[in-house]
Amino acid sequence: AWTPGRFFDLMSASIAGAIHPEKHVIGAVSGGVDSSVAAALVARSLGSRFHAILVDHGCLRQNEVAEASCLLKSVLGDAELRVVDASDTFLSALDNVIAPEKKRMIIGHTFIDTFEQQSKLIPEAAYLLQGTLYTDVIESAPSASSVSAAAPLPPGQATTETEQPAEQEYDSAASSSDEEEGLSAGGAPSVKSHHNVGGLPERLALQLLEPLRLLFKHEVRGLGALCLGLPAASVWRRPFPGPGLAIRVVNAPLTRRRLARLRRADAILQAALADPRRPASLRRQIGQAFAVLLPSVRAVGVTMARGGAASDHHQSRRRRYAGVVVLRAVSTGDYIDAVSVDLPHDLVDEVSRRILAEVPGVGRVVVDVSPKPPATIEWE
Ligand code: XMP
Repeated sequence: AWTPGRFFDLMSASIAGAIHPEKHVIGAVSGGVDSSVAAALVARSLGSRFHAILVDHGCLRQNEVAEASCLLKSVLGDAELRVVDASDTFLSALDNVIAPEKKRMIIGHTFIDTFEQQSKLIPEAAYLLQGTLYTDVIESAPSASSVSAAAPLPPGQATTETEQPAEQEYDSAASSSDEEEGLSAGGAPSVKSHHNVGGLPERLALQLLEPLRLLFKHEVRGLGALCLGLPAASVWRRPFPGPGLAIRVVNAPLTRRRLARLRRADAILQAALADPRRPASLRRQIGQAFAVLLPSVRAVGVTMARGGAASDHHQSRRRRYAGVVVLRAVSTGDYIDAVSVDLPHDLVDEVSRRILAEVPGVGRVVVDVSPKPPATIEWE
């Protein structure tokens, strides 16, 4: 039976056996449960021969680098944590890009470049650790039938795959037609290409190590909590997609200003959810909660006098057009299906008022109640 204890023993033996005794492993970490558990697992097996690398791609949430570093230091023991600020490189590579799959592809490639540079600074590095889960593998597979054909690799086995996920075509003009994107005849495209699935280019002289490739999220949490004794803040941290805020600025080019606005709106939502006066049951119910920015929707509204509605006089109001923030909170077991969480109205009201008052360029706040399927959790 797949108990966390048995899996941990198998994993440790498999990692220790798969890694050359004089070689080192570098690993992408984000502070999320997947990469933290993968990193803790390898750090336990290899100690200072493991180097965890946290890349700031400029699309992280407010305080994310500080919070993630703090969590990671508590699980890494003798292993090194390197924080690399690559935001300029990522944001210039993403300049003027709108298509979601193109954003993912650019972010994936820039990650690889960043790791290539880092690996050159660690001459003993021969392996790259990734916290890929079975869910990522399934959702990036070209079609349901090929999931079973492409048997997942045994845990801990280092691979040198070279195949890249096919890029899904995105045409914002076509998306206004009645035909549902991705369902047209001529093949079954992947649900979406996760930036961390698809292997590594051959030029990167690192072997890929994906010890969690056979596990679902709840199994990874069990492994982290029961076998590795990871702090609850790490184990229960809600997932955050690798491309980060880049896929939550929808249908518009990314700019530092838009990212800053979304970051601010998201922080307002997170603060309201974390408020200890709210019931813990609400937090437990939420698998993921975040804000999305729709800068290209110009919703009509009116200007408000300083100080808000109370001191506002209708004659001084002027018409204005501004962007939209979407609030999304979902409950999910496996992130393959999800339903929206019914956020208390007073919370939504408080968050919406704060966003409208504090985030420039936003004139309307809406709540997304769509289940997955047919919607996905993310908007892109
Ligand atoms: P969707 O939007 O497909 O998301 O319902 C399911 C889960 O996957 C996360 N997600 C991603 N994670 N790279 C990632 O590392 C990605 O490109 C990506 N897209 C979605 C999403 O946040 C949710 O947890």
